[in-house]
Amino acid sequence: MPTFDKKDVTVIFVLGGPGAGKGTQCAKLVDEFGFVHLSAGDLLRSEQQREGSQYGSLIAEYIREGKIVPQEITIALLSNAMKAALESGGATANGGGTVPEKHRSKWTDGKGRFLVDGFPRKMDQAVGFDEEVCQSRFVLFLHASEQTMLERLLERGKTSGRADDNEESIRKRFRTFEETSMPVVEYYRKDNKVVEVDSMKPVEQVTEDIRKAVRETFARLGEEA
Ligand code: C5P
Ligand code: MG
Repeated sequence: MPTFDKKDVTVIFVLGGPGAGKGTQCAKLVDEFGFVHLSAGDLLRSEQQREGSQYGSLIAEYIREGKIVPQEITIALLSNAMKAALESGGATANGGGTVPEKHRSKWTDGKGRFLVDGFPRKMDQAVGFDEEVCQSRFVLFLHASEQTMLERLLERGKTSGRADDNEESIRKRFRTFEETSMPVVEYYRKDNKVVEVDSMKPVEQVTEDIRKAVRETFARLGEEA
C-alpha cells in the first residue's frame, strides 16, 4: 500500500527535458492552485550539500554526469518532504511560507496537493513511487526542442552555479532524457495521463496555457481547482 492515499493527496508530475521550464512554471502555479512544489533535483542538491549525508559524493557524481540517481534515494527524499508538508498544513519544503489562506482547506486532515517537478525520470522511479508513496493524478509534460533548452541552460549557467549547466553535462542530460526519461512519458501517455504544453513560447504564454490545461484536467477528473 502506498504511504499516501490518492483520494487525499493529489500528485501531479511535471516532466520535460532539462531547461524546458519546469521549475520556472511550477513556481508560477503554486499560489493559484494551492500546490506545494517539490523539485526532485533541488531535493537532491540539498541532500548533497547536507553535512553528514552519506550520499553526498554519489549524488554529486550522478548530477555532473547527467545520470539518474538510484531511485530509493530520490523517493525517500520526496516522501519525507511530502510528509513534512502534510504535517505542517502546506508549509513549503524550503521554509518559504504556507499555501495561501484560500487554499488552506485543501491542506487539512491529511489532505494536500503537490507539483512534483523533474520526477519520475526513469521507469523504476515511476513504479516505485506509485507503489510505495502515492499514485499520481496526471502528468504535465512541457515540450521544448533541444536547441531552445540548450540556449536556456547556457544562459542559466552564467549565474546558476550548477555543476551541470555546462555544455558537456547538458549533452549528457539530453541523452539521458531521450533514452531514460521519455519512455516514462510514453508509459503515462498510453494511460491517457499526459497533458502536454508547448514550452517554447514566451514564459507568460506558457504559464497561461498550463493554467488552462490544469483547470480543464481538474474539471475532467472532478476535482476542485
Ligand atoms: O531536474 P534537475 O535538472 O534539477 O535535475 C538535475 C539532476 O538531478 C539530473 O540531471 C539527475 O542527475 C538528478 N535527478 C535524478 N532523478 C530525478 C531528478 C533529478 O537523478 N528524478
Ligand atoms: Mg529544475
